[in-house]
Amino acid sequence: MSDKIKVFKNPSELAEKLAEEFIHYVDNKSTLNIALAGGSTPKLLYETLAKHSNEIDWSKIHFYWGDERCVSPDHSDSNYLMTKTALLDYIDTPTENIHRLLGEDVPENEARRYDNEIKSNIPSLKFDWIFLGLGTDGHTASLFPNTENLKNTTDLCVVAEHPESGQNRISFTFSILEKADRISFLVTGSNKKDVIHKILVDKIVSDEYPVSLLFNKRKDIEWWTDENAVSGLS
Ligand code: 6PG
Repeated sequence: MSDKIKVFKNPSELAEKLAEEFIHYVDNKSTLNIALAGGSTPKLLYETLAKHSNEIDWSKIHFYWGDERCVSPDHSDSNYLMTKTALLDYIDTPTENIHRLLGEDVPENEARRYDNEIKSNIPSLKFDWIFLGLGTDGHTASLFPNTENLKNTTDLCVVAEHPESGQNRISFTFSILEKADRISFLVTGSNKKDVIHKILVDKIVSDEYPVSLLFNKRKDIEWWTDENAVSGLS
């Protein structure tokens, strides 16, 4: 199996090892731009990083999000709220280092604002490290299957609509995702087994599975998984 696919016994072991890796990575950098994943999987990683908070110089790190639900920052669906309660509340990060996607604002305006925030702070458009999750339908960030948002664009952010709930989202586009220096997917649980198999074994490349379009461009993507998500993978 490729060395880019890391398989851990369970989500806790994955979170500890990835936190260790993160600590080491930050140690060797003077400043860095990180884009965080939303959803539920990364919460344990953020909580684990909070446990190691005194081992990291948080002033080096600028936090962005790869996508956000179009809700207020105190709404239970907010990726920012999830990150805040798991990590940000426990670390001394300068306020100016938190680049929150304003889910409460008009989606199209916020997508344009965030585009500009990234362009003015990261002229290379190259994040140091982007963490991403993987939906069972093969979406990542809020780039959903068979949507216009998968098409080539110079926009860094787009407005998306969740295919089931209809909830608006703001999401990075592939244009910014594919430029990152390092991209790590966090994928755990048996409910992700089928989609992981389609991407890593069947090597599907299709708008049906948006993550496959990114993987097709960036074979150096890291897959941080657990045994439940990859059991039976050759
Ligand atoms: C979001 C995420 C989304 C998520 C996947 C996996 O805002 O929900 O950006 O892409 O990473 O849907 O979600 P789980 O980690 O909850 O399985």
